[in-house]
Amino acid sequence: MSELRADRVTVILGGVRVLWGVDAAARSGASLAVTGPAGAGKTTLLHVMGGFIRPRSGRVTLDGAELAGRLPGLGFVPQTFGLAEALTVRENVSLPLRIRQSVENVTPAAEVMARTDEILERLGLDTVSSQLPSELSGGQQQRAAVARALVGRPRIVIADEPTAELDADNRDLAMELILSACAWEAIVVVASHDDEVVSRCDSLLRLADGSVAGEAP
Ligand SMILES: Nc1ncnc2c1ncn2[C@@H]1O[C@H](COP(=O)(O)OP(=O)(O)O)[C@@H](O)[C@H]1O
Ligand SMILES: [Mg+2]
Repeated sequence: MSELRADRVTVILGGVRVLWGVDAAARSGASLAVTGPAGAGKTTLLHVMGGFIRPRSGRVTLDGAELAGRLPGLGFVPQTFGLAEALTVRENVSLPLRIRQSVENVTPAAEVMARTDEILERLGLDTVSSQLPSELSGGQQQRAAVARALVGRPRIVIADEPTAELDADNRDLAMELILSACAWEAIVVVASHDDEVVSRCDSLLRLADGSVAGEAP
């Protein structure tokens, strides 16, 4: 069992206290939903749990060890997608596998592209795979960001409002893919204010004004 924890985390950005004494825990093989109104601090909590920013006080730990930068083995879906504009959809989505291949040289190139094409098809992106992100709708870009985060079967998945641009059918496709990571024992954290998304997760953390407002099983 693996556990990603935030303990009494306070974050100050631009002189503003954005998170205040927040506790959160996410376990392998399970999904944690982070919810709350706009401005509550969801994105900031995801960024601090992913190791993108350091808390002013408190600790973020993976299996007891304090994070020293971005979490290794993280598949991240940014709220703003973060696709490389000069790369096609297929190049964007295959990037994590191609980087890993260049470092570890274990996954054959043909398998990298086969896995990429499989996930593109699963999210209905096969017909736009050779287009650039700027040629896609917001929903297509969001699905590409989800595909890129999941293609390498990461041990930690953090997704920030991953269905905000999606209609009901595509929301279901994207959430099925994200939650399927629990089957390979990933830690899954999803920020959303969509009740339908929140209800599919195993546990819930509600933020309001930078603090935990209430937790439910
Ligand atoms: N770099 C920053 N400097 C100052 N305030 C920030 C910064 N980033 C976020 N905030 C503020 O922190 C609060 C929480 O933001 P955010 O984590 O994006 O919330 P959410 O994702 O729940 O909408 C907001 O009031 C936002 O304006
Ligand atoms: Mg946000």
